[in-house]
Amino acid sequence: MDRLKDKVAVVTGGCSGIGLATVELFAAEGARVVLADVQDDKGAEVERRFNGQVRYQHCDVTQESAIEAAMQAAADAYGGLDVVFNNAGAGGARERIDEIGGEAWDRTQALLLRSVALGIRYAVPHMQKRGGGAIVNTASIAGLQAGYGPIAYSVAKAGVIHLTTAAAAELARHRIRVNAICPGYILTGIFTASSGISGEAVEQVNAALGQMAPHAQPVAKAGSPRHIAEACLFLASDAAEFVTGTHMVVDGGITIGPRTAWDPNTPSPIRAVLERARNKT
Ligand SMILES: NC(=O)c1ccc[n+]([C@@H]2O[C@H](COP(=O)([O-])OP(=O)(O)OC[C@H]3O[C@@H](n4cnc5c(N)ncnc54)[C@H](O)[C@@H]3O)[C@@H](O)[C@H]2O)c1
Repeated sequence: MDRLKDKVAVVTGGCSGIGLATVELFAAEGARVVLADVQDDKGAEVERRFNGQVRYQHCDVTQESAIEAAMQAAADAYGGLDVVFNNAGAGGARERIDEIGGEAWDRTQALLLRSVALGIRYAVPHMQKRGGGAIVNTASIAGLQAGYGPIAYSVAKAGVIHLTTAAAAELARHRIRVNAICPGYILTGIFTASSGISGEAVEQVNAALGQMAPHAQPVAKAGSPRHIAEACLFLASDAAEFVTGTHMVVDGGITIGPRTAWDPNTPSPIRAVLERARNKT
């Protein structure tokens, strides 16, 4: 398949989960990809697997100079830059609003929001040279509603959604499209890592999460990194040439309404009261 033929892409956080699935799909669709991450061993392994079509670049996205260097690496290795997926992330600070300190707050915003702003910032000069480009940012349903992540994470992801809109407005004149994806519950290592679970417990917890996942939302299957990669491919490709400044929710329907709206085994308490009253009359 050739949906990204002749395109050069940078994918941050490409060593695992959503990022890795996207690197694999982009490469299968003909792109040449710079995978930017901090996991050097895994990055080297992916690079070997793709035999010249994927280059690994060590890049801590909390470091401005590292982001700039990752975009430059794409231009140096493959002659330009057409697509950026600002995706690297982790759960961030877990404290509640009445516990969190300023340092933990800043660290989370730097990882999840500032990194995306700078990813856009340093992609633009390269995309201008190509006459345009496509940027996709990983937000989250946690940026749309409360209850899907810790507060610092949720606010950062809400920021990514609005950053996407504001940047799309500024960059349209350069023919650069900017869109976001809001994944729902996707089975990756982010849950155990950000909960501080390690060692043998990781596999057990992941297996338990895997069993629970198909029942978490109206679409009765587990959300996989590939589901997000497919959405990213669409937004990155010329098929989305008329799409900018938006966020695509890819969540198996979890945000369409409360569980009572779609799960027959969870009846609405209000409806139950009304039905009892109706049965008496
Ligand atoms: N998994 C979900 O359910 C879910 C839901 C909504 C949003 N997301 C978002 O998706 C993105 C990818 O997460 P994932 O679920 O694939 O998790 P993951 O842990 O599998 O992958 C995250 C990747 O980001 C890299 N990374 C972390 N910190 C980095 C840094 N400072 N610099 C460079 N790379 C760094 C990690 O090494 C890893 O390869 C994140 O932004 C996350 O917030 C995930």
